[in-house]
Amino acid sequence: MSDDDRTLVADGFTETASDYEDAVRFNIEGGQRLVMSIPAGSYDDVLDVGCGTGWTTQAIVDRFRPARITGVDPSEGMLEQFQAKLGGIEGVEVTLAQGDVENMPVPDAAFDLVVCAMAYHWFPRKWAAAEAMAAKMKPGGVLAILCSGRGGEQAYRDILANMEPPNYVWLGAFDAVQRDIPEMEDYLVQAGLEVEDIWMERRVRHTTVEAYTQRMRVVASHLIGDMPEDEAEAYLAEVERRMREASGPRGWTYDFTKLYAIARKPG
Ligand SMILES: C[S@@+](CC[C@H](N)C(=O)[O-])C[C@H]1O[C@@H](n2cnc3c(N)ncnc32)[C@H](O)[C@@H]1O
Repeated sequence: MSDDDRTLVADGFTETASDYEDAVRFNIEGGQRLVMSIPAGSYDDVLDVGCGTGWTTQAIVDRFRPARITGVDPSEGMLEQFQAKLGGIEGVEVTLAQGDVENMPVPDAAFDLVVCAMAYHWFPRKWAAAEAMAAKMKPGGVLAILCSGRGGEQAYRDILANMEPPNYVWLGAFDAVQRDIPEMEDYLVQAGLEVEDIWMERRVRHTTVEAYTQRMRVVASHLIGDMPEDEAEAYLAEVERRMREASGPRGWTYDFTKLYAIARKPG
């Protein structure tokens, strides 16, 4: 992924920031489960990487009440929403910084807890991202990651794969983002961390075609970014038509897989 592609991801999130909260409520609950899985302890300095609108930060505040939280995200729109929502938490100093995971404007070895919820799958260089986050942890600090797991969204992928001509960029994006347990273990070990726990969660959901495509638009609009607008409209309309055809009495059925990891920095 080039620097232009990184900008595309951030711009995509900025464009859809206002529709975002509604479309990603399952992610929000995932972030809450991630935070509940962090070992009990006292975490004064927390870094939230790809902090978005601050849902996971909110869960951290509720559980650990840290002294300071720093949120880093490349998307201006997401940071604005974060600021509006969580700017003034009493007793917690919140700092927001615009930046990419590999270029975070925060000091090294300064954080007791680094959390990264539903953002790691967007990081183009997975080993470098794990290393960049590990560099920000104090010795003994904890890293908690939640990201998209391999195997999810297969029904949607099947529809895309049968489109004529297939959109290889979009199809390939699933492989580029989703990860399995051994891959995540490798990123963390290579970054010098001790893995404490890694697990997958797989859910089958039923929804409407409209709700599903709206979520895709909000979290992955950049993936069709290089298609001319009218072509993209026609393409998406055909995808939706096929999804309706494949829907049953409970609507559009799909599975979603989430990968969780907790690791510690030795020392
Ligand atoms: C689905 S949101 C997750 C928001 C948040 N962590 C939460 O739990 O509410 C994904 C976020 O990752 C950010 N992101 C995408 N690419 C990134 C990168 N290379 N470095 C840091 N953050 C990135 C996006 O801008 C977006 O805000």
